[in-house]
Amino acid sequence: TPFRILQVGGPSRGTRFRPLSLDAPKPLFDVAGHPIVWHCLTAIAKVPSIQEVCMIGYYDETVFKDFIKEAASEFPNLPIKYLREYQALGTAGGLYHFRDAILKGRPERIFVLNSDVCCSFPLNDMAKLFDDRDAEAVILGTRVSEDAATNFGCIVSDQHSRRVLHYVEKPESHISNLINCGVYLFSVDAIFPSIKSAIKRRADRPRLVSYPSSDNLESSFIADNDDDERKNEIIRLEQDILSDLADSKQFFVHETKDFWRQIKTAGSAVPANALYLQKALQTGSKELAQPSANILPPVFIHPSAHVDPTAKLGPNVSIGPRATIGAGARVKESIVLEDAEIKHDACVLYSIVGWNSRVGAWARVEGTPTPVTSHTTSIVKNGVKVQSITILGKEVGVGDEVRVQNCVCLPYKELKRDVANEVIM
Ligand code: GDD
Repeated sequence: TPFRILQVGGPSRGTRFRPLSLDAPKPLFDVAGHPIVWHCLTAIAKVPSIQEVCMIGYYDETVFKDFIKEAASEFPNLPIKYLREYQALGTAGGLYHFRDAILKGRPERIFVLNSDVCCSFPLNDMAKLFDDRDAEAVILGTRVSEDAATNFGCIVSDQHSRRVLHYVEKPESHISNLINCGVYLFSVDAIFPSIKSAIKRRADRPRLVSYPSSDNLESSFIADNDDDERKNEIIRLEQDILSDLADSKQFFVHETKDFWRQIKTAGSAVPANALYLQKALQTGSKELAQPSANILPPVFIHPSAHVDPTAKLGPNVSIGPRATIGAGARVKESIVLEDAEIKHDACVLYSIVGWNSRVGAWARVEGTPTPVTSHTTSIVKNGVKVQSITILGKEVGVGDEVRVQNCVCLPYKELKRDVANEVIM
């Protein structure tokens, strides 16, 4: 009976998700009509023998209160609790800190999921591999292009046995294009002792200190100890634990052929939105809008949104609560958030329109498509690196007939003239 852990991180972690993280904690940002963590929970709920889900992070308790309440009614058989780190403890430090709470139901194994990934979460397949090989750990892997691979944890495995031979977090040069998806299954008898010895190793390591002069000898030692103590608490699965597990020989990789994307930058919410909508379409989800001449599936329209019948939407579009889309508007490959307004004949492509933003009549808000296989949301235009997805933060106004191209626009701005390839602050 496995336990589930969702690593949700904390406010300082969402910086690459700006400007959207200024107004919503990343795990609760809506893609395909639901918060990012909701998609993880749906996958978890499909695994039989569920005990409990712990969300571990260092956001304030109040942040997830409503979400947990709603999730309790949507997933009645899945008790969910939030365990708050008083400061960032690292992806393994948090697990260790809350080990008593995690081990309370005496689980034999635990799933650990990074909440900021978008994938089909093939947890049952991972559990099967775990059983078949009598494993201590199973990691989910996926193949990416050679130039993308070094941005992730890289796995060298034995083709035949699927055993993990080496693991290197974000290596400097190419070692493998099989990467860590941020989804693991651990036996509790392997993971907790491994974290414990990593903590011990860290504490035993001789320190390099500059030779203190006699008059501040005492104070410099104290300062050094304090600093070390703080750093000691950050223990990361990726750097401190996984390569160790690879030595243990009972560490296996399940390679998924299904979709996988990381949700790091604000722009990466657009491909994640597309992937989850396509999955909803494939599984015949009732939540999607009915296809028609003006609705190119998949499209999600919140029941409280108002879309003029002459507006053309899709594919891969999500329209949030109470948003309004005017006559003749065109929206494609985009997310339109709560209370936003797109006026008549405006065009929104490869973009995110923030909460309460207004896009004027005949305006164009557009980004640039990137290949599905690309794991980056920036592109090079005229020799300058710009965001491929245009993002309007909260309450941004785009004037009538104004064109906004490949821009990131911070909250509360009014755009009255055409802009391209800029961050508007
Ligand atoms: N609770 C908690 N505490 N969560 C944390 C902490 C922490 O101190 N630090 C990070 N997280 C959460 C993040 O919110 C995220 O869900 C996950 O842990 C990993 O975040 P990062 O540490 O920023 O790593 P990364 O995203 O750059 O890379 C990781 O994910 C890749 C796949 O998306 C690594 O696991 C890579 O190897 C992997 O390829």
